[in-house]
Amino acid sequence: MLSYLHAYHAGNFADVLKHTCLIHTLDYLAQKPKPYFYLDTHSGPGLYRLDDSESQKNCEYQNGIGPLWEAQNLPEAIERYRSVIQNCNQANSETDLTYYPGSPWLAAELSRPQDRLSFCELHPRENEVLTQNFQRDRRIKVFHQDGFQTAIATLPPKERRGLVLIDPPYEVKQDYQRVVEVLTACQKRFATGTYAIWYPVVKRSTIDTLLHQLKQSGIKNIQVFELGLQADTSERGMTSSGMILINPPWTLWRAMEKSLPFLAKQLGGDKGVYRMEQLVAE
Ligand SMILES: C[S@@+](CC[C@H](N)C(=O)[O-])C[C@H]1O[C@@H](n2cnc3c(N)ncnc32)[C@H](O)[C@@H]1O
Repeated sequence: MLSYLHAYHAGNFADVLKHTCLIHTLDYLAQKPKPYFYLDTHSGPGLYRLDDSESQKNCEYQNGIGPLWEAQNLPEAIERYRSVIQNCNQANSETDLTYYPGSPWLAAELSRPQDRLSFCELHPRENEVLTQNFQRDRRIKVFHQDGFQTAIATLPPKERRGLVLIDPPYEVKQDYQRVVEVLTACQKRFATGTYAIWYPVVKRSTIDTLLHQLKQSGIKNIQVFELGLQADTSERGMTSSGMILINPPWTLWRAMEKSLPFLAKQLGGDKGVYRMEQLVAE
C-alpha cells in the first residue's frame, strides 16, 4: 500500500520535532572533519511547496513551522531549525514561507563534500521527484527500494560513523514491528551509529508496545522525545508524535529540555504536551 503523500503534512508539528532533532544531529556529526554516512530509509520527494493543493488541503504547516516563522525568543535549537528553513526558501528565491524542506533536502544542505548520502523512496512518483531534486549532487544515491531492507543491506558504512533516519508512514500496522526488527538487525551491524526513528501517537497502546519491545531488544542508549498538540484521546487522528534516538548526540537532551516546553506552548497553547525520557541507559 503506497497511498501516503507527505505533501499533505509538510511542515506540521510532527515535522518540526523530527527536523529539529535531525538538524541538531547532523550539525553534531559535522563537528568532526571525518566523513559520515547518512541513510534516509523513507525519504519522500525532499522538497515541498506550501502553496500547492496538497499542502493547502489542511494547511497543517499552520500548526508547525507557521507559528514559528516570525516568533521571537526561540530556544537555540528551534532558532537553528528556523534558520535552515529560511535558507531553503532563500535558495529557492523566496523570502516568505513558501517552501518546506524534507529530510533529504536538510541532509543534503547540512552535509559536507566528504560525506555520503543514500535516500530510499518506494512510491514511484515521489521517487521520480526525489531523483530529479538531487541528481546533480554526486554525494547522493537515490534508491527505488524498500528502506527497511536497504538499511540492513547497507550497514555498516565504510565511514564507520553516521546517521540513519527511519521515517515510515505507518500506513500498515506491520511497520511498528518492522521498526523493532530492522533496528535490532542494524544495531548488530553498526552498533555505534546514530538512529533517529519517527512515530505517530494515534493509539497510545501501540506506542507503549513499540517502546517496550525496544527496551527488551538489548539496544543501549535510547532517548525518546514527544510533542503533542493535546493529550492522548480515543478519537481518531494523531495528537502527538515522537522521535526515538539511539546513540544521540550528548547535546540533544539539553537542547530538547529547552525546546519541547517552548514548542508545546507555541504550537499547542494551553493544551500542548511533551515528554522526554531516557528509555535505556548508555
Ligand atoms: C513520512 S514520509 C517521509 C518524509 C521525509 N522523511 C521527511 O522528513 O521529509 C514517508 C515516505 O515513505 C515512503 N515509503 C513507504 N513505504 C516505504 C518503504 N518500505 N521504503 C521506502 N519508502 C517507503 C512513502 O512513499 C513516503 O514518501
